[in-house]
Amino acid sequence: MSRIDFDQLIDRSGTYSLKYTARQRLFGREDAIPLWVADMDFAAPQAVTQALSARAQHPLYGYSEYPPALYQAIQQWFLRRHQWEIAAEHIVICPGVVPSLHATIIALTQQADGVIVQPPVYFPFFTAVTETQRTLLHNPLLLVDDVYQINFDQLALQAAAGAKMLLLCSPHNPGGRVWSEAELQQLLDIARQYKLLIISDEIHADLVLTGRRHIPLAALAEDVPVITAVSASKTFNIAGLGMSMLIVPDAGHKKAIESVFNTWHVSAANPFSIEATIAAYQQGEPWLDALLEYLQQTCQWVQQFFATQLPMIRVLPIQATYLLWLDCRALQLNDRQLGRFFVEQAGVAMNPGVMFGEGGSGFMRMNIAAPRAIIEQACRQIVAAWEAMPQ
Ligand SMILES: Cc1ncc(COP(=O)(O)O)c(C=O)c1O
Repeated sequence: MSRIDFDQLIDRSGTYSLKYTARQRLFGREDAIPLWVADMDFAAPQAVTQALSARAQHPLYGYSEYPPALYQAIQQWFLRRHQWEIAAEHIVICPGVVPSLHATIIALTQQADGVIVQPPVYFPFFTAVTETQRTLLHNPLLLVDDVYQINFDQLALQAAAGAKMLLLCSPHNPGGRVWSEAELQQLLDIARQYKLLIISDEIHADLVLTGRRHIPLAALAEDVPVITAVSASKTFNIAGLGMSMLIVPDAGHKKAIESVFNTWHVSAANPFSIEATIAAYQQGEPWLDALLEYLQQTCQWVQQFFATQLPMIRVLPIQATYLLWLDCRALQLNDRQLGRFFVEQAGVAMNPGVMFGEGGSGFMRMNIAAPRAIIEQACRQIVAAWEAMPQ
């Protein structure tokens, strides 16, 4: 395999990239450096591109079926990478994690049932609950010494009061927490005691930075029927192809979820998502290992840069994801001013923390999955803009 050059600048114009084309619409500035939506400015593994090119060469793009090779690739990946044995009959192939959260909520809860989310969290968790007419319950994470913790006492109270489901983000976005085995066991204890169903969104499972290990909740669950959402999409930068998986150990749950997807008449069985996922899981591992090293170095660079150049912006230590969580509260700007400062003064488009719900105010989420020169430029622009501000 040839050396992987994550420093390479790749022009995404003409590819309808949301991250680039939506800048004017969402941020009011089409030249802002786009460090927002969670996809990467890196070429996907060569094996993926080759598999897609080979499939494109065959000029028939009709309806597809999921082949055994897809299930095997998924099983082998999670066994090898996460020591998690998945039975093929537990896998439901889905057209994306967010649709799979909606389908699961609809399939396994009733209208008005309580569904718990733990903000600050990936904002489609909120709409997955509200748009399905369930009751949104918040169990905000606690920020203790710059590390997010689960409020287990409040979670147990909510479960005891009748909440039906918890949407867990593991690793957590934003903030990049990798939940420890002890924390996951505590969650399982609560689930067991109160029959709380846990949907564990593990889309960031493969993006764990040095020194940590992601533990799939379901691998510890034994008697608790945890449902897990996974995908090769974030890991290998193929989110636009639209394929994810639910791992559903309970046969009744699985049937109910599949029947929701059937009523929607949606599927991820397009010839390209199948080829890309198989190629990524079968051949993408060296690429991923190189990526994690690169991201780790970028992360350290950004942390050091702000620590020395603008310590009022504190880069929280992340354990996973390529999404840095910047504590900007010391700048003493309200959320509207903060958003405007980063876009209008600094020319950098990031997700305002306030989007992620309670606890997000005063924070910004920075996507560092881009060539280092771009990230360095963005950070320099932020510091220069702050220095130019009338204090
Ligand atoms: C926690 C989490 N879940 C789901 C998604 C999106 O998944 P999909 O594009 O498969 O719906 C993201 C994307 O950023 C995410 O961070």
